[in-house]
Amino acid sequence: MKQIFKLALFFSAVAGICSPVLADITGKAVDGSGNPVVNAFVTYSGLGNRFVWTYSDSQGNFTLPGAGPTSVDPSLYAKPLLSGINAQVRGGLLCFNADGKNDVSVDIYTLRGGHLDKMSYGMLGAGRYSVHPFSKRLARAVYVVKVRNGAELGSQKMLCVSAAGAGRLEKQSDENQVSLPAFVGKRSADVEVVRVGKTGYFPKLVPVQSFTQAIGNVGIAKMDVAARVDSVFNSLSLTQKIYQTVMCDVRSIHPKDIVTTTQIGTYLGAGGVQPPDGTSPAKWANWLDSFHVAQMQSATKVPLMIAYDAVHGLNVCVGGTVSPHNIAMGATWDPELVKKAYRMEAIEVRGTGANWAFSPCIAVPRHLHWGRVYEGFGESPEIAQQMAKAAVLGFQGFDLSHPFSIAACVKHFAADGGTDGGLNGGDCTAPDAALRAIHLPGYARAVEADPATVMPSFSSWRGTPMHFNKPLLTDYLKTQLGFDGFAVGDYYGDYWGTLTTVDAITAGLDVPMHVDNPTGSETTTLGLYNASANGQARVIDAVKRVLRTKIKMGLFDRNNSADPNVTALIGCQMHRDIARECVRKSLVLLKNTNAVLPIAKTKKVHLVGDFADNIGLQCGGWTITWQGDTSGTGPTTTGTTIKQGFAKLTQGTVTSSVDATGIPSNADVVIVCVGEKPYAEGNGDNGSLTLTSNTIFKGINYTQLISDCKAKGKPLVCLLFSGRPMIVTNEIQQCDAFVACWLPGTEGDGIAEVLYGDYDFRGKLTHTWPTSYGQEPINTGNMGDPVGSGGTPLFAYGYGLNLAGQQLPAGFYSTIP
Ligand code: BGC
Repeated sequence: MKQIFKLALFFSAVAGICSPVLADITGKAVDGSGNPVVNAFVTYSGLGNRFVWTYSDSQGNFTLPGAGPTSVDPSLYAKPLLSGINAQVRGGLLCFNADGKNDVSVDIYTLRGGHLDKMSYGMLGAGRYSVHPFSKRLARAVYVVKVRNGAELGSQKMLCVSAAGAGRLEKQSDENQVSLPAFVGKRSADVEVVRVGKTGYFPKLVPVQSFTQAIGNVGIAKMDVAARVDSVFNSLSLTQKIYQTVMCDVRSIHPKDIVTTTQIGTYLGAGGVQPPDGTSPAKWANWLDSFHVAQMQSATKVPLMIAYDAVHGLNVCVGGTVSPHNIAMGATWDPELVKKAYRMEAIEVRGTGANWAFSPCIAVPRHLHWGRVYEGFGESPEIAQQMAKAAVLGFQGFDLSHPFSIAACVKHFAADGGTDGGLNGGDCTAPDAALRAIHLPGYARAVEADPATVMPSFSSWRGTPMHFNKPLLTDYLKTQLGFDGFAVGDYYGDYWGTLTTVDAITAGLDVPMHVDNPTGSETTTLGLYNASANGQARVIDAVKRVLRTKIKMGLFDRNNSADPNVTALIGCQMHRDIARECVRKSLVLLKNTNAVLPIAKTKKVHLVGDFADNIGLQCGGWTITWQGDTSGTGPTTTGTTIKQGFAKLTQGTVTSSVDATGIPSNADVVIVCVGEKPYAEGNGDNGSLTLTSNTIFKGINYTQLISDCKAKGKPLVCLLFSGRPMIVTNEIQQCDAFVACWLPGTEGDGIAEVLYGDYDFRGKLTHTWPTSYGQEPINTGNMGDPVGSGGTPLFAYGYGLNLAGQQLPAGFYSTIP
């Protein structure tokens, strides 16, 4: 009993005890001949260590950090096996519930089942207890812990991070002597295993016993990808081969038909796709798994690629973590953060059974009229270059075969953001030099990270629709840049006037995106194959590109179904914390007068406007449905609204109302939340960008709303939720502070923590902010691009203040080499 204390007694001491002794796993990646492998992707493959990864250096050496900028306390992932006992490790403490009716005992085992310790406590009063059984154990090691409370028995693997645990692992000789199959069975392999892999190599798994080990040389054999492609190719009939280039929507075919008749190569879930029987992560996983399973039961047995538009986190599945849209990610100026967020997103996508996303969009939007401005990171090639590579590396690492990697789709190639007048799907008439200076550099950087797929744009360059643009699609992208994945078409983008699917494939399209009639494009492609030697060669190239991508993804070497452990991580706190970090680092402070920010937590804060308390509005388009929640009737998915974020942190009061009439007379600060109604694609094309053009719900005009709030005479902060800079030249005059919040996604509490001053602002504009619509297009360094009426913008590209009122330093906070 001496060792045991009520949790409350320990509360204040926990922080000290938690400070981990940080240690690393070191090793060297080598190939079959013992030569160093550069850029091998080294990860823990266990649930406890999702976010710890590193790459081998030029000598093949790697140091996998026990903790670091890309890691999160793995104990957050510990999941109790028995809810009654609810055992968890927090720092060096083991916490559990006792029911007050039975004796309690704790046993500690090594991973292989070696019994290390037993502690018996007799009967404890009902409550939650903490013990410190790891004090003599290895720091940052994983143990199997078994807690028995009478008949109830909970056991699980737990990571002990113990400052006091720097000693030797005791009783090591006991290992293997006690056999505990229940604990070391299926789950042990997926917890603390270091995985070393690289695209085009066979990965190696190395079990580890602690986070302090040198694991020496890890050999990963190079794969003969070309030979494997040929071997699979030769095993298929002509129809089966051509089917590899066919795509249709998951709603257009039933898995039972896959087994018997239609074994196409790829599937998509177009905007608004949902499983037929529900929207939860588990429903998604079951549904998409039924496609994977059916395909492997079919004659072809070539694994499937399934994609949807995960353009800002897991935005399709209710309960997923929705990150800010790319315009906000750009405003962080932090490619390392973007990489981390995209990796988190990849894990959530894998958890639904998909293995591919139509993302990242690396458009360089040059005209704010365009309804897809928010899908790009910013108006400059420098932003596109950094973020494109970061996003692809986040999704794929340098190891596309990693079970948590997903295939990226860099889109929309090219100059989708450069169309005249910012017209969605329009024509970009910028001269060749401007095309090369502005719209292509992002692709060159993205290709360095070996993206699995690229999607041509609906738009045209100088009159040639991109799906039919051989010089850019084939000669530049595939030949000059060396892109060896496949080009997947945009939604029927190969249907264009008199131009046909045959013309598109001839120009370099590999997989037309057709959502129904899976056999339609098969017939067309077969026609091309039979028409000429060139046609045949082109079709063979397209088939082989698909097969090569699938081989590089490791799909032939593993089960493609969703891992239930990964599905269980969808929307977990660790992922939400990363999305929230993106939110707070993306906020751009445009104005702060009368010291209105930061707001003291003791103040009475009143929020006004629909955006203050609505998940759907703060997420914008491409969230659960294609257009986002245009009805604004309530929560579309799980998350924290802006108001809830303030309520979490306040030591005063937080109230809200949809209009200014609800502002209480004793409010200390008014925060008016206005923005753009959710939209996607051409529906967002907007030829005025005023707040009045985006009147939303109950007839409230946002310009008027700001004036109404101002009339109350209280300190006024305006939060703008929009997919792009808006024309707010007059509105901003009325506000003491003005913050561009973009479309933050589900983690609205990232806003309160900056407005309350827990963190300073760091976001900066990646778009020049015009004073009037007539100034559009107005962009930094116009590089031969068209310009609008000119003049001084309201805020320059790169503008952003901190709480002290200073302009933030220019440039990136991190860079991707
Ligand atoms: C969009 C693409 C998207 C595709 C599939 C198209 O309308 O332009 O960005 O990936 O639909 O949903």
